[in-house]
Amino acid sequence: MPGAIYAEGLVKTFGDVRALDGVDLDVPEGTVLGLLGPNGAGKTTAVRVLTTLLQPDSGRAVVAGIDVVKNPNEVRRNIGLSGQFAAVDEYLTGRENLRMVGQLYQQSARAAKARAVELLERFNLTDAADRTTKTYSGGMRRRLDLAAALVVSPPVMFMDEPTTGLDPRNRQQLWGIIEELVAGGTTLLLTTQYLEEADHLAHDICVIDHGQVIARGTADELKARTGGERVEVVVHERDQITPTRDVLAGFGKGEVMVAEHTRKLTVPVTGGAKLLAEIIRELDTRGVEIDDIGLRRPTLDDVFISLTGHAAEEARENGEGGGPASGERPDAPADPATAATAAPATDDTTTDPKESAK
Ligand SMILES: Nc1ncnc2c1ncn2[C@@H]1O[C@H](COP(=O)(O)OP(=O)(O)OP(=O)(O)O)[C@@H](O)[C@H]1O
Ligand SMILES: [Mg+2]
Repeated sequence: MPGAIYAEGLVKTFGDVRALDGVDLDVPEGTVLGLLGPNGAGKTTAVRVLTTLLQPDSGRAVVAGIDVVKNPNEVRRNIGLSGQFAAVDEYLTGRENLRMVGQLYQQSARAAKARAVELLERFNLTDAADRTTKTYSGGMRRRLDLAAALVVSPPVMFMDEPTTGLDPRNRQQLWGIIEELVAGGTTLLLTTQYLEEADHLAHDICVIDHGQVIARGTADELKARTGGERVEVVVHERDQITPTRDVLAGFGKGEVMVAEHTRKLTVPVTGGAKLLAEIIRELDTRGVEIDDIGLRRPTLDDVFISLTGHAAEEARENGEGGGPASGERPDAPADPATAATAAPATDDTTTDPKESAK
C-alpha cells in the first residue's frame, strides 16, 4: 500500500532547468522523511508540487490517499505546510495571524482563540503576541509560521527548512514538538540543511541533487554505505606528527590525513575500539603525548559530502540567499497566508484541475 506521501516519476521544468527529474517518494504513515540536497536540488519544488502549489509536468503524486493534480482542494484540507520563507501577515499581530488561520479552517471563533493562546505559548511568542508581526525578528516570524501550520492538526505535514534561522533552544523545542506530532500519527516530510536534524528526526532520508534522488535509506544505512570508521588523533607537539603518522599508517586501512596547524591526524580503520586501544599503547611506547584521540563514525555530513561533492554548510553559505521577494518565482502564491497553511481557500491558477486536464 502506498504511504501517506507517495510520488512516482515527478518531473517539473522551469525553462531549461529540470527542477524535478523523475522523483519517486514513498513515506509510510506516521513517519518522517528527511529530504536533503544542496541549494537548487529541487527540495522546495518537490514540496510545492506535493502541496498542490505547483503542477508537475508529468508523474503522479498522492498525499493522504488523494491525487494532488486531480483533487488539489481535497489534498489541502488534509495537509499543513510551513514554507521555506516564513509567510505571515505583517500587519496583523501574532495572535491575529493564528486566529485568522483557525477561522480559514472553519474553527469557531472560540476554538480559534484558544488554539492561538496555546500555540503562542508553545512557540515562546506569548510576550510578543499582540505586536504586529512587522516588528518580529526572523526567528520569531519563523516560529509564528510554524505555529500557523499547526493550527489544525492535519494528518500530513510539510516543513521546508523549518529550523533555518532558529537559535539552538528554539530548534530543540521545535524538535520536541515535531516528535510529539509524529508520535500522535502525523506523517511529515521535512527538508533541512542541518544534517543533525535529519539524523535526529527522520526515519528515512532521501538525498536529491539536480532533481534526482541520488540516495535513500535510514541515516545508519547511508552512513554505513559512506564508509567506515576512522581514528582521529591530536598530538601535543608538532614534532610528534611524523612518528604518529607512522603508527597510524601501520594500523589504518587507507591514507593518513594530516592537518598540520591543528596537529590532527586521521586514518580510516576497521576494528573499532580494540584497534583504538592498540594504537594508544603503541603511541605511548613511542613517547607520543596525545591531546585527544577517538574513534569517529561517519556523520550525515560525511554522507552528504561524499554524495554531492560539497558540504551542506558550504552550500548554504554560497547558495542563493534570496528571499521570497526576489521575484524569481512568478508562480508563488500571491497571498502569504495561503502559503503558510495551504488553507482550503487557496486559489492558485496553476493548480486548477481544469488546467491539468488540458
Ligand atoms: N518558479 C521558478 N522559476 C524558475 N526556476 C525555478 C523556480 N522555482 C525553482 N526554480 C529552479 O529550480 C531549481 C530547484 O529549485 P528549488 O527551489 O526546488 O531548490 P531547493 O532544493 O529548494 O534549494 P534551496 O536549498 O536553495 O532552498 C533551481 O535551479 C531553481 O532556480
Ligand atoms: Mg528550498
